Amino acid sequence: MSKTANPTIEQIREEALAAAKSVSTTADIETLSIRYLGRKGAITQFLRNIASLPPEARPAAGKKANEVKAILEAAFAEAADLLNRSETAFEASIDVSLPGRPVARGALHPVTLIMRRICDIFARLGFSVAEGPEIETDYYNFEALNFPREHPARDMQDTFFVSDDIVLRTHTSPLQVRVMEKQAPPVRIVAPGKVFRCDSDLTHTPMFHQVEGLMVDKGISFGDLKGILTAFVHQMFDEQTSLRFRPSFFPFTEPSAEVDIRCVMCRGDGCRVCSHTGWLEVLGSGMVHPAVLENVGYDTQQYTGFAFGMGVDRIAMLKYGIDDIRKFFENDLRFLTQFE
Ligand code: FA5
Ligand code: MG
Repeated sequence: MSKTANPTIEQIREEALAAAKSVSTTADIETLSIRYLGRKGAITQFLRNIASLPPEARPAAGKKANEVKAILEAAFAEAADLLNRSETAFEASIDVSLPGRPVARGALHPVTLIMRRICDIFARLGFSVAEGPEIETDYYNFEALNFPREHPARDMQDTFFVSDDIVLRTHTSPLQVRVMEKQAPPVRIVAPGKVFRCDSDLTHTPMFHQVEGLMVDKGISFGDLKGILTAFVHQMFDEQTSLRFRPSFFPFTEPSAEVDIRCVMCRGDGCRVCSHTGWLEVLGSGMVHPAVLENVGYDTQQYTGFAFGMGVDRIAMLKYGIDDIRKFFENDLRFLTQFE
């Protein structure tokens, strides 16, 4: 209300109309009615004061006060009506019996899930986890792994070159060298990470994931390699899953073997995923070549070891029955949300 002792009828009207515009509940309007139109309200007060005016001014002031009273009554009624209507509309728009909207939750990528599972299995077999850079020098990616410069074996992996001497690592095998340089035997590590090759089809992507494994100690044999990898496959899939060791070649292992798992898409009958062989290659492995052990200063008379490098995305394909590896990287939520 106006601070002046005796507000004019115009002041009362302006103030009351402004107040009527800013109400937010019907209770606010009730308060306004009492304040302006009630028995002790501003208009009533004004009418009482008319008696103190000169006689000739009284009729006009009385008439004016009654006009303002009518205007305010109409304004308050309209404001109340407006509020009532929006309150009912709001209530009608809420159906309290509807179930709540679920909050969308994120989930881990299927490749991450498999990567963690692989590392967990090896942790239980006594392996610890090592990591290294994705941008690698020629020395660690090739040279120290017994790939001499100009050696044709470098063509086995279609390399992305950053410069003459720097590459995007084509495999996780550089970690064998990096770990052994820092640590005396015995060694028992796995090294998960991204690797890169200029490659793309149903079973190849330009970026994929490997987990490297390395075990070096006195008396390690090819039998240990077979035992560990068989235990791994049986824990990752099940005891019935068949795997086969197929002779192969890597400059940094001798002898070398690739391991295939029975194709889960066709159960071995042959399909386009396994190129009609019934098997899908999941890893390369072998006994660490003495030249690699010598490069890191290990005594090859005392120590031998095995290493392997497995394709995580390939294992995820087999585990989840995915027929095209590229689906993992298309970021289609309809695909990704199935793995929660
Ligand atoms: C290697 O990368 C060797 N470093 C493995 C190794 C480690 C051998 C230690 C001996 C000792 P290879 O190029 O075969 O080998 O690749 C290993 C696995 O990675 C393959 O078996 C396959 O499962 C996966 N892989 C290879 N290329 C791709 C690709 N473009 N996309 C998805 N997975 C791939
Ligand atoms: Mg291979």
